[in-house]
Amino acid sequence: MTASGLAAAAPTAVICGIGAHVPDRVVTNRDLVARLDTTDEWIRSRTGIASRHMVPPGTATSDLAVEAGGRALVSAGGPPPDAVVLATTTPDRPCPATAPEVAARIGLGGAAAFDVSAVCSGFLYALAAGSGLIASGTARQVLVIAADAFTTIVDPADRGTAVIFGDGAGAVVLRSGRRDEPGAVGPVVLGSDGRLSGLIEVRAGGSRQRSSGLPAGPGEEYFRMRGRETFRHAVERMSAASREAARAAGWRPADVDRFAAHQANGRILSAVAAELGIPAERALSNIERVGNTGAGSIPLLLAQAAAEGSLAAGHRLLMTAFGGGLAWGAAALVWPDVKAC
Ligand code: UT7
Repeated sequence: MTASGLAAAAPTAVICGIGAHVPDRVVTNRDLVARLDTTDEWIRSRTGIASRHMVPPGTATSDLAVEAGGRALVSAGGPPPDAVVLATTTPDRPCPATAPEVAARIGLGGAAAFDVSAVCSGFLYALAAGSGLIASGTARQVLVIAADAFTTIVDPADRGTAVIFGDGAGAVVLRSGRRDEPGAVGPVVLGSDGRLSGLIEVRAGGSRQRSSGLPAGPGEEYFRMRGRETFRHAVERMSAASREAARAAGWRPADVDRFAAHQANGRILSAVAAELGIPAERALSNIERVGNTGAGSIPLLLAQAAAEGSLAAGHRLLMTAFGGGLAWGAAALVWPDVKAC
């Protein structure tokens, strides 16, 4: 599916605000080494991560989403959005969706609000959904939030995942605009392969396990990832989707000023950039400080890069993500003149 395929006359979603939030609590590699069979050297060399943020007890995804969403609204100024789309892997509860509560707490009660479940590709899927609401005339302003409290589903004793994931959220505001404006979203490329859903999963807690009448097996309530296989698919899918989005935008690799890939693993980021022929210095990265924050990864990266000045107005930005589902995506846009909050 490509957003560029929508009718030329349709309104186009344009990014007009961005914000992000991470919880205060920082967990360093040294903290993990104290309780897991791992080393700082292994974590840094195999993942590129030095520290990550973690929610304190009692904090939920909605709390992160409210902070990030509120900041994006301050960044945008403008009228209140009439829709809120929240991408998350870790909803506050299985039912109802988390977005309506987030909308109400941000002061957007009455707005359309729903969750998008696409794990680490959630932001790009939510961006496409929000853009579609604008293109169809259903909404004029949309708040797209991507937030995960990933540490709440990670097995603290699993050294293969506990060292990677952290918590965080990012958000953008979309307004109705023109296709040729900076910030106009698209082309967007999305894809999935459900045959490989078992590579990344939380087995228990859904209708499959509940209808069985059996309690969850040991550890089945936790997130599990077959890391090595996932790594390979991540590189392949993010490279292919990025190529497709860049081609649809009419860009060659040399035209890409900034590359923002889902911060899954530092080695994956290097491999994808190399595969695409994008120079390493054009690839944005914050994985060393925040780890893999799931759905929130890309908007958190964009907000931090925009605040630090490494992402600036006029940059041709290529984004890509990959994760459980399997689901992946890529999107191209020219970064607008927005102040990150
Ligand atoms: O965000 C969604 C998408 N996610 C991804 O794309 C993540 C993809 N996968 C990865 O990032 C990497 O596969 C991991 C970081 C999860 C693992 O790194 P790896 O280099 O692929 O390691 P591996 O799974 O092949 O394991 C190699 C060895 C194993 O030991 P043996 O069997 O060789 O004795 C693991 O038990 O490394 C061991 N190991 C560790 N050792 C020290 C795994 N985790 C750790 C650890 N500390 N934390």
